[in-house]
Amino acid sequence: MKAAVHYQYGSSDVIQIRDVDKPVPADNELLVRVHAATVNRTDCAMLTADPWFMRFLTGLTKPKKSISGTDFAGVVEFAGKNVSKFKTGDRVFGFDDNGLGSHAEYMTISGNNAISVIPEDISFEQAAASIEGAHYAYNFLNKVNIKAGQKVLVNGASGAIGSAAVQLLKISGADITAVCNTKNKELISSLGAEKVIDYEKEDFTKSDEKFDFVFDTVGKSTFGKCKPILKDGGIYISSELGPNAQNVFYSLFTPFFGKKKVKFPMPLNRLESVLYIKKLLEEGKFSPVIDREYTLDKTAEAFRYVMTGEKTGNVLIVL
Ligand SMILES: NC(=O)c1ccc[n+]([C@@H]2O[C@H](COP(=O)([O-])OP(=O)(O)OC[C@H]3O[C@@H](n4cnc5c(N)ncnc54)[C@H](OP(=O)(O)O)[C@@H]3O)[C@@H](O)[C@H]2O)c1
Repeated sequence: MKAAVHYQYGSSDVIQIRDVDKPVPADNELLVRVHAATVNRTDCAMLTADPWFMRFLTGLTKPKKSISGTDFAGVVEFAGKNVSKFKTGDRVFGFDDNGLGSHAEYMTISGNNAISVIPEDISFEQAAASIEGAHYAYNFLNKVNIKAGQKVLVNGASGAIGSAAVQLLKISGADITAVCNTKNKELISSLGAEKVIDYEKEDFTKSDEKFDFVFDTVGKSTFGKCKPILKDGGIYISSELGPNAQNVFYSLFTPFFGKKKVKFPMPLNRLESVLYIKKLLEEGKFSPVIDREYTLDKTAEAFRYVMTGEKTGNVLIVL
C-alpha cells in the first residue's frame, strides 16, 4: 500500500511516499481503508519533534512510528475476532494523538480506541475534519463551567481549534468575541461569534470589555497581557505552554492567589470527544471548516502549508 513515511525528525522535506506492507490487524483491532485524514498541528509536532519533550512519547532519536497521521475517516475492511463494537463495512472516524499512521491507504486501530460510526449524511472529508481541532476545543470548554450569556473571547478563531471552539461555545449560549484576520471575519461571524476583532487592525488585549473566559486557541498571547480584560474570577486557557512554559505553573498557583485564574487542561479523554462530536454532527450543530484538500502523494506539500500557521480550519489528505 502507499503511505506517507518519515524515518527521521525534520521539516516536510523528510516525508516520502513509499510502498509499504499493508498492516495486519490483531484480534482486538480493525483494519481500516482510509478515505480522508487531516494534516494538523499535532501531526506537525510529531514530524518535527517540537517541542523537544515530544520525543519521550514519539521516540528519542528517531520516530517510533514512521507513517504520519493522527485522525481518520474510512471504512472497516476487517474487524478482529475480539472487536464487538464495529464490523466490516462500517463507516468510521477516530483520533489518537499518539499517532495512527492514517496518512496511508490502510491503518489498524484498536476497537477500544476513540472511534465512532460516521453519521449517515456526513462525508468522509467532513468527518475527518471534525475531530482533532474539535477535540482540543471541547477540552477547553469541558474543564470550565460556561453559563449562557457569559462573555468569552476566542483568540485564533480561524484555526482548527478556534473555529471548533466558536461553534461549541455557541451551543452553550455564550456571548462570543472572536479574534481572527481580515479575510476570515465573515466566516467566523457565520459560525456564531457576536463580535469579531481583526487582529491585523486591533490589539484585543487593549479592549475596554471584560470577559469571563479568554481562550487563546493559537497560544499567541500570555496570561499577563490578558489579565486586564478578564473579569474578577475570570479564567484564561491557552493551547500552548506559554513563552517560558509558564501556563502549567500558573495553573497550579493561580487557584490559590489572585482573582484571575489560568487552567491548563489535559485533553486525555479522546473517546468522549469523538462521541460528543458525532452527536453534534447528527444534530446538525457542528460543521467543520475545511481549507484545502491534497492527495496522498502531496502530503509533504500539505505539511508545508499547515506549518505556515496560516491555515483556516482544517487541511485534508483525501485518498
Ligand atoms: N495543547 C495541545 O495538546 C495542542 C494540540 C494541538 C495543537 N496545539 C497548538 O494549538 C495551536 C492551534 O492549533 P490549530 O490547529 O487550531 O492552529 P492552526 O489551525 O494552524 O491556526 C492557524 C490560524 O491561526 C491564526 N493566527 C495566526 N496568528 C494569529 C494571531 N497572532 N492572532 C490570531 N490568530 C492568529 C491564523 O490566521 P492567519 O491566517 O491570519 O495567520 C490561522 O487562521 C497551535 O499552536 C498548536 O501547536 C496544542
